[in-house]
Amino acid sequence: MKHLAAYQKLLAQNQEWVKKKNNEDKDFFERLVKQQNPEFLWIGCSDSRVPANQITGTDPGEIFVHRNIANMVVHTDMNMLSVLDYAVNVLEVNHVIVCGHYGCGGVRAAMGNQQFGLIDNWIRHIKNVYTKYQDELDGIADKTERERKFIEYNVIEQVFDLSTTSIIQNAWTKRNGPWVHGWVYDIANGIIKDLKVSMNNQRELPEVYKLKPH
Ligand code: CO
Repeated sequence: MKHLAAYQKLLAQNQEWVKKKNNEDKDFFERLVKQQNPEFLWIGCSDSRVPANQITGTDPGEIFVHRNIANMVVHTDMNMLSVLDYAVNVLEVNHVIVCGHYGCGGVRAAMGNQQFGLIDNWIRHIKNVYTKYQDELDGIADKTERERKFIEYNVIEQVFDLSTTSIIQNAWTKRNGPWVHGWVYDIANGIIKDLKVSMNNQRELPEVYKLKPH
């Protein structure tokens, strides 16, 4: 494969992958043609080092995926809302996982003051998380430790933002699901840490966020 251009190598590897899949399980593609029935929606970072299926040992068909810079749940983001609505109301996933990762460039940029262009408007949402936890974060002297804590808080805030959408709250009323979860992946060792902030009802939300059916 050495003589191939980089993008041609991807196509060649695709052929190899198809062969391998067919050898392992001859009905694999036939099954997936009929329908997708994933149990999970993954909201993760676009970072190339955090591919949802590979790090969870799952196959095509198992995880519905939305990725953006720093795994954000911005409640005016039509793209995220459309994915969420489809996953929750049509695919009826049982779990929505927000997965951040240590070493996230988006979160690191949000800690600093450097402009990067258009993306500054996206990063602004992450800065808003910083100010919410500013006292604690400013108190962590070690920069790497502060960044790791900020990454965790950012995930926790996105889980909160998910749980305050009408999409999630209406599903909770209808079917006591889905669960929403917050995870952080460590690119240094491949391990996923569960932040244990899972929720499947409104009970722990501040009163003002508890929506009633209209
Ligand atoms: Co990232």
